[in-house]
Amino acid sequence: MSNQDKLFIFDTTLRDGEQSPGASMTKDEKVRIAKALEKLQVDVIEAGFPMASPGDFDSVQAIARTIKDSTVCGLARALEKDIDRVGEAIKEANSGRIHTFIATSPIHMKHKLNMTPDQVVEHAVWAVKHARRYTDNVEFSAEDAGRSEIDFLCRICEQAIKAGATTINIPDTVGYNLPQQFGETIRTLIERIPNADQAIFSVHCHNDLGQASANSLAAVLNGARQVECTINGLGERAGNASLEEVVMAVRTRRDLFECDTRLDTTQIVNCSRLVSGITGFPVQPNKAIVGANAFAHEAGIHQDGVLKSRETYEIMRAEDVGWSRNRMVLGKHSGRNAFRSRLEEIGITLDSEEELNDAFRRFKELADKKHEIFDDDLQALVNDAGFSAENERVKLVSLRVCSETGETPTARVVLSVDGEEQEGGSIGGGPVDAAFRAMESIIGSGAELQLYSVNSITSGTDAQGEVTVRLQRNGRIVNGQGADTDIVIASAKAYINAVNKLEQEAGRAHPQKARV
Ligand code: KIV
Ligand code: ZN
Repeated sequence: MSNQDKLFIFDTTLRDGEQSPGASMTKDEKVRIAKALEKLQVDVIEAGFPMASPGDFDSVQAIARTIKDSTVCGLARALEKDIDRVGEAIKEANSGRIHTFIATSPIHMKHKLNMTPDQVVEHAVWAVKHARRYTDNVEFSAEDAGRSEIDFLCRICEQAIKAGATTINIPDTVGYNLPQQFGETIRTLIERIPNADQAIFSVHCHNDLGQASANSLAAVLNGARQVECTINGLGERAGNASLEEVVMAVRTRRDLFECDTRLDTTQIVNCSRLVSGITGFPVQPNKAIVGANAFAHEAGIHQDGVLKSRETYEIMRAEDVGWSRNRMVLGKHSGRNAFRSRLEEIGITLDSEEELNDAFRRFKELADKKHEIFDDDLQALVNDAGFSAENERVKLVSLRVCSETGETPTARVVLSVDGEEQEGGSIGGGPVDAAFRAMESIIGSGAELQLYSVNSITSGTDAQGEVTVRLQRNGRIVNGQGADTDIVIASAKAYINAVNKLEQEAGRAHPQKARV
């Protein structure tokens, strides 16, 4: 594919996505998501904003060391200290990029930066040149370009390219634009900037008016060749353009677009589930591509049509985006090899024999409780295995809950805390409330519960429940997950997972994160 035929996908789930309140992720979780994005074959993974905190720096560095087939990028304001920090974090990447930005709208220049337009151009040029000392892969973003004056945008982008930027990104930072207008902005920039052919034009759209994907696609129709987006449209406020919508629109409407991505779209649903599970942000059932109902035909007339010929009501094939038929894949007599090969078939490779053994042990436990194990169960099981590393200080030993009509629910729990078993009990408004209070009587975390959600992984009353618990303490927010056929036990696992993450975080210095 030439650069004109190719649409580069720049995923910012780990940076802009993580800026959604409550979506913060640990380093291990970010590395797991980065690996899934690499398997999806995104071109660029924006791994974080290293200057924001030591934790962000560590995550970007860990991802740069791990990922081989995607470019790993770090974000920097147009400041020496930010750029140096990214340069250091991506030093060991196979392919690394520095993404530097400065605001260009009159409102931001005046009220946020307190700079004249000339000073802003000077900073941008200096920043790009400084970033080029670390790598020749430098992206420049004109923050709030969507509300900037076109003449000024032309001027600053031309200077940034002259200084060495190889990608020019035009963000609609506040989601103010509409598709036709945004498309025209991109076309004008490409036509008017004399050295536009020396850079790839990129867009980064927010979804405040629900137009992020539409604006991104309008930009592609007008010459943009990189789209910045996130899995499930995660991101600040109403989110960013959703990767799955942009990628599938371009692929499905090849008749309109003169370009395509290199993505392996069969990995989309896996990525969506992973991000949703880790962040605790559920995917709405009617969400395009990745919602549970996206390919479900309820109305008789639709079902009839699809059975006769699927094109009557289907414009994409569910399996092309990674929806499996969710057939029964394994049972309690399945062996380790069958287990491993089914995981591989659905795109999951575990890193070590140890991880495989651990996941297989959990599989056997689950198969004892649940007759039929579906692909979705395997996915949850492996996600659960991934969390075990964080479940270090506190472990669930046993839980007993009594719930009876007309009686107050009670719970007794035994936890292992730093290797020592402790027992606690409580009553509660319901069995989950009683269990949480019983655990808290031992742990005493003092954390505030911000979110509790349960999702059934498959259908049937023996399905596993996947629980997310969001806890907040001293301004630090963490999400914990747990899955089990017993939803009270799944809830306890999720609570303990979140508490362990809080404990891990408490062990680290955590200066207030700088926001972009
Ligand atoms: O929305 C925005 O403008 C950004 C930039 C930092 C690219 O996220
Ligand atoms: Zn953004």
